[in-house]
This record gives sequence, C-alpha cells and structure tokens, in this order.
Amino acid sequence: MKRSRSEHRSREPPWERVYSEKGEDALSWFEPRAETSLAILDGAGVAPAAVVDIGAGTSRFVEALLERSIPEITLLDLSETALARTRTRLGPDAAGVRFVAADVTTWSPGGTFDLWHDRAAFHFLVDPDGRAAYLARLATALRPGGHALIATFAADGPERCSGLPVARYDPQDLAVTLGPGYALREARRIVHRTPWGSEQRFQVSLFQRV
Ligand SMILES: C[S@@+](CC[C@H](N)C(=O)[O-])C[C@H]1O[C@@H](n2cnc3c(N)ncnc32)[C@H](O)[C@@H]1O
Repeated sequence: MKRSRSEHRSREPPWERVYSEKGEDALSWFEPRAETSLAILDGAGVAPAAVVDIGAGTSRFVEALLERSIPEITLLDLSETALARTRTRLGPDAAGVRFVAADVTTWSPGGTFDLWHDRAAFHFLVDPDGRAAYLARLATALRPGGHALIATFAADGPERCSGLPVARYDPQDLAVTLGPGYALREARRIVHRTPWGSEQRFQVSLFQRV
C-alpha cells in the first residue's frame, strides 16, 4: 500500500522538519543565552580546552564558548539544517568551530574532550540500547577528570517534546544512569520559560569523570 507524503513525514525523526520550518521563537527549548550552563561551569571553575555540544541544534552556547576563546569547539547534531543555521549565524567565527552531523549513538568521536555538554538531547533516548550507546560514546570521548554537563527534563517536567517521548530525570536518577565512573559535582532544578511563556522543569547536572 502506498503511503501519503504526510504519513511518511510523521514516521521520520522530526528534527530536519523542525529546523526547516520553525524560527527560534517557535522552538520551545530556545534560550537567548545559555545562562544555567555557564553559571554552573563558572561556579565549578571548569575551564575546558576542548568542548563538544551534543545535540547542539541552533543553541547560542557556542557564542559563549567563542567569547571565552575555547580552542576546540565541536557541535554535533542529527540535523544538518540546524548546524547550517548556526554556521550562518556565526559568520566568520564559524571557522573556529567543527560541525558534525551525526547521531550521537552511532558517532565515532575520533578524539577526546574535557567538556561534554548536552542540553535536552540525552532525554530523547528512551530505550536502554540507545542510552547504552550514548554512554559508550561519553566514556570514549570524555577525558579522565573531564566534565559532563547534562540537562534533561526533570522528573516533573514535560513527558514529550516535538512529538517525541522523553525520559525524565532527577539528578540522582541521572547519576545512577551514568554509573560509578562519574561523580555528581552539582545539580540544579530550573524552570525554563519557552518563547511563548509556558514553563518547563529541567534538571541540570554537572558530573566529573573519575
Ligand atoms: C530540544 S533540542 C535542544 C537543542 C540545543 N541543545 C539547545 O539547547 O538549544 C534537541 C536537539 O537534539 C538533537 N538530537 C536528538 N537526538 C539526537 C541524537 N541521537 N544525536 C544527535 N543529536 C540529537 C536534535 O536534532 C535537536 O537539535
């Protein structure tokens, strides 16, 4: 039986469509500045030389990294459209950034980082195999002593995003999921306001690889 175009589209991961069709003010996760990540990193004295932003999308976190003259910046996302939008927004500054269009669960890091940043990507991995694949990449890519800053919907946060189910965490749940190789250094619960003013509860946790 032939399927209509819309049936095909509804079965695809939504990310290319989201980034092709929506401006920043229509992305629930948009934040004009990565305030919480920066506050946690600064508070903990984390000054990385090599950073990877997992599920970077069109996040403005990269601008803060560039302002801080971080030598090695890698942005990874499933969506080429999102990465292209960021490249365009950065203009000449994009020359100092590595863009990787990949699924983190099948990615071959090919190098190591001292900060792994993930705001609202890990929580889309709702099956154990996907999470295990993600954690294997984290273990390969994060240097001993390096930090992972992972933000997800909190246990009382939204159950879905962009039509996809999410796994929700409190910091302690996330610590158990990451396992004993990572020490929880700091955790915050925050309320994110979407561009249209609704509230989403997140947890943001900083781990250090031991
Ligand atoms: C909710 S958005 C958050 C984007 C960005 N971190 C921010 O804070 O603006 C989730 C992002 O994760 C990306 N993503 C989802 N699953 C992914 C995967 N398995 N591998 C790589 N990127 C993924 C999506 O393409 C999307 O850009």
